[in-house]
Amino acid sequence: MEPARRLCYLQALGIEVYRLRSRASANSTEEQPVESVCLEPQQGDFSQPLPKTDNWDRLQQYVKSCQKCSLAASRTQTVFGTGNPTASWMVIGEAPGADEDRQGEPFVGRAGQLLDEILWAAGHPRETVYIANILKCRPPKNRDPRPEEVTACRPYLLEQIKLVQPELILCVGRIAAQQLLQVDTPIGKLRGSVHAFEAIPGQSIPVIVTYHPAYLLRSPGEKRKVWQDIKLARQQH
Ligand code: URA
Repeated sequence: MEPARRLCYLQALGIEVYRLRSRASANSTEEQPVESVCLEPQQGDFSQPLPKTDNWDRLQQYVKSCQKCSLAASRTQTVFGTGNPTASWMVIGEAPGADEDRQGEPFVGRAGQLLDEILWAAGHPRETVYIANILKCRPPKNRDPRPEEVTACRPYLLEQIKLVQPELILCVGRIAAQQLLQVDTPIGKLRGSVHAFEAIPGQSIPVIVTYHPAYLLRSPGEKRKVWQDIKLARQQH
């Protein structure tokens, strides 16, 4: 990324630019230490296997025609996911909002613009990562996903993770993190640690948890913490 553009994004994130000397120094041991590392892998939920989904087209078709929960009745369209199918970073959010429901792509609203800035600053711009959500359909009035909706949608996300095989998963927001890792730990406790997720048994993917960009729009003072999380993510990959 050009230095000027990077500077702009970092400033938009409220990051003190003088602290970021180079990618090497960002990864150096002088930077924020990892507070704790919990590498107990979270097993994927294989209890509801899909019919054969060994390619993107087939998986996309299943999602597009999905009627497994009541969100099928209220959605404008499904929001499958987007990006580089061989990405090293995979970003997982909660669920489509109104903009995403209209456009059929994740993170295209204001929160999406901020996510783009975070990804640029991280050195993993949007087009290089794969972005998906826990739910593929918008919950009415953006309410929290219901357990039966998450359960119905989970096999799609698991297949996406298996197809991408990312080196790192960045979970944005409490709901994405709790649902992926199947815990009810508060986000403040999930941040700052490296979790692990196994979509394929025996293949553990590091997971970093950070705040949702929509939360950052409401609480810009927390952007600094997101940068800490991004540094931790960069230390993994
Ligand atoms: N918030 C999310 O978690 N996902 C989106 O796609 C948009 C907003």
